[in-house]
Amino acid sequence: MPAWLIPAATTLVVALALTGAFFFVVTRGALLVRAALPGARRPDAHVYPIYSNMRLMRMVDFQPVIAAILLFQYDRLVSMITSGLRKTDLFDKKVLITSCAFGNVMPRVTSAALKAGASQVQVVDIIENELLHAQRKLKHHGEALQFRREDATATTLPDASVDANVVFFLLHELPHHLKGQVLKEACRVLAPGGKLYLAEFHRPSAWVLRVLSWTYFKVFEPLGLALWSTHDPVAQLEGMAGFSCERRVVFFGNFQVIVATKPLA
Ligand SMILES: C[S@@+](CC[C@H](N)C(=O)[O-])C[C@H]1O[C@@H](n2cnc3c(N)ncnc32)[C@H](O)[C@@H]1O
Repeated sequence: MPAWLIPAATTLVVALALTGAFFFVVTRGALLVRAALPGARRPDAHVYPIYSNMRLMRMVDFQPVIAAILLFQYDRLVSMITSGLRKTDLFDKKVLITSCAFGNVMPRVTSAALKAGASQVQVVDIIENELLHAQRKLKHHGEALQFRREDATATTLPDASVDANVVFFLLHELPHHLKGQVLKEACRVLAPGGKLYLAEFHRPSAWVLRVLSWTYFKVFEPLGLALWSTHDPVAQLEGMAGFSCERRVVFFGNFQVIVATKPLA
């Protein structure tokens, strides 16, 4: 065995453990502490500090880091959404991004929407710092953008006011009772014929990946596992009158992009 192998392996294991510990502390660990503290529960109590503390956001929001978290499928998932947007006639229409996300998904979705003719892209998020962070990333996209601090479970947007709505990896982080509310709200604001683009985790088909994925969810994001069963977004969307859904899964079924179309009136 080469002499460098043991120190190299030890360094790798320590680095992975420290990275895991860091992400646990700034996500689920912080929520466990928050839940144990006395006081009224705020509507944004489920949001991890990693999405509300500006220093943490800037520390983590680097494309290679974000791509690695999604097992290097990030680009592919975003492309599935942007190619759908580009194929749609969005001339003089509005597009909504429901909740901010790290990486380049927001600039890419915005570019695709504007190229398809959209007159406005609205971004809603429950956390002010996320909107400020997104504004910085989208500063080259000009006047067509609007940022609104809103709770995605109950926005002030009028019925049928947007023609496309993008929800990128939000559902798995929401308490179960909010998952359906967000979907219902996302559908309410869609115009007839409009499309909801939803990217999320999915139950992997390969058992090895399923075990790893299950372990990841149990440790870091236990609210995400329900997407595999009781809170399957397609089942929930098909329960809403007339919606038709198309689901594509990638990377051995580990991720999904759902396109749900609202029926014409
Ligand atoms: C989209 S999710 C996670 C995205 C994904 N993990 C990533 O960044 O690649 C995180 C965002 O959802 C927002 N969020 C959570 N609950 C929300 C709610 N009820 N209404 C609006 N935004 C919400 C958080 O503030 C945060 O900006």
